[in-house]
Amino acid sequence: MAEEKTILTLITGADKGIGFATAQALGKKGQHILIGARNQERGEKAVEQLKDDGIKADFIQLDVTDKAQIKAAAAKIKADYGYLSILINNAGIAMDHHQPASELSTDTIRQDFDVNYFGLIDVTQAMIPLLKAASPAKIINVSSNMGSMGLASDPSSRFYKVNSLGYQSSKASVNFATIIFSKELADDGITVNSVNPGWTATGFGGRPEDAPAPTGMQDVATGAAQIIKMASLPMNDTTTGTFTENAGTLPW
Ligand SMILES: NC(=O)c1ccc[n+]([C@@H]2O[C@H](COP(=O)([O-])OP(=O)(O)OC[C@H]3O[C@@H](n4cnc5c(N)ncnc54)[C@H](OP(=O)(O)O)[C@@H]3O)[C@@H](O)[C@H]2O)c1
Repeated sequence: MAEEKTILTLITGADKGIGFATAQALGKKGQHILIGARNQERGEKAVEQLKDDGIKADFIQLDVTDKAQIKAAAAKIKADYGYLSILINNAGIAMDHHQPASELSTDTIRQDFDVNYFGLIDVTQAMIPLLKAASPAKIINVSSNMGSMGLASDPSSRFYKVNSLGYQSSKASVNFATIIFSKELADDGITVNSVNPGWTATGFGGRPEDAPAPTGMQDVATGAAQIIKMASLPMNDTTTGTFTENAGTLPW
């Protein structure tokens, strides 16, 4: 009988927040976790924490805006393992702080896009050969309900009045990438899905991590739950081209 490959999972921006909670949960399920982080000290500390819990984990230096680092990360994964089973594109920022679109600088919008969209595309393109080597494989794009054009244009939605052009359009673009890549990679046995964590108590957007969570803000484990669920589907599951959250499917 052929030996089953260990599920090898790279999570970008995994040194803290939702990415780290996802790493802990998937690691406890037996996946070998590659902690992608731009900050070496924080990344290595996260790896030590996982190892203390008995999880197989390694650090990969990965600023998603640095093409040389992305190339080096892919080369290292190829040399060390030869394949990648799951890519979770989690790294994200929100720089626009609800400034009106009429006043928001395109420099700020570009910062959001560099990490949330172009970084995600560069990492995905670099990892595709490794995902093909593992096939069946999965890509999970951490999107946001803030990037749902369906919710943003629905007067009955609480997102109707939200105004963060850079962040929202970068996450809408992430969703478009999910749709396009899911179709291109279907025949290669690679599924591609978007997930919305929901409003979660992390340091995201500059929020102090130890600040009390306001009503409606969920804990990190709840924010990571749908990502964990998608990454725990059997490797031969063919669900692809979806946009989901804990409560179900979201409008694009
Ligand atoms: N929290 C929410 O309410 C919420 C809601 C919906 C969607 N999301 C999405 O969930 C994802 C995770 O967010 P979070 O709440 O866990 O926020 P977080 O605690 O701020 O974590 C964000 C992670 O992204 C990393 N990152 C930022 N820029 C990067 C870059 N250039 N290269 C590599 N990594 C980079 C950060 O690294 P450093 O430690 O180096 O800064 C950090 O590890 C994001 O994509 C976010 O858009 C969050």
